[in-house]
Amino acid sequence: MGNLEAILGYQGAQRDGEATLVAPDVVQMPFWTPEFCATVIQAGLAAGGFSPQDDDPVPGYEISLAAIAPRLFEAVENDIGMRMWPAIRQWWPLVDYHGLRDAFIIRYAMGEQEELRMHHDVAQVSASIKLNSDYEGAELEFPRQNFTNADVPVGDLIAWPSLVTHPHASRPLKSGVKYSLTIWCELPMAIEGVRSY
Ligand SMILES: [Fe+2]
Repeated sequence: MGNLEAILGYQGAQRDGEATLVAPDVVQMPFWTPEFCATVIQAGLAAGGFSPQDDDPVPGYEISLAAIAPRLFEAVENDIGMRMWPAIRQWWPLVDYHGLRDAFIIRYAMGEQEELRMHHDVAQVSASIKLNSDYEGAELEFPRQNFTNADVPVGDLIAWPSLVTHPHASRPLKSGVKYSLTIWCELPMAIEGVRSY
């Protein structure tokens, strides 16, 4: 399998398996193969990601999948709808899928971004895929759920409700370089003149 077929054709990407609840309202499931995760990192580097612009007031060491290839973003958007959404509905049966708000790779490295302060996301459901594991520290931590992703394997996804209940942080990196994919699922949009309950 070549890298072009992987990135532009989404070939060899998917890894299926059962979804489980690993902490209060935190779902974990296999999603990508480790090989595909490595290819996505390479694609991000080849696309010139992780290099903050000099004039950016908040430099981020990140790159959107859409900046790598719109086809990749579209494939992930469809895949989240086809595989993750039915899985999370086992626990959150009433959520509807409205596509992705964004999906981007973040890099943590010493001397660059080394941690991420406690926050919650502005999305409906958030997900994170661990793309590599050859680093120390930098666990994604959910204090209210008493959960970290330290034991989550490469290519597994964890998903959580984005707002209010699931503040999270990335603990300080100790060594190596961490790559992870953050996925924000779009909030339901208010339709003018239609009241929903
Ligand atoms: Fe977040």
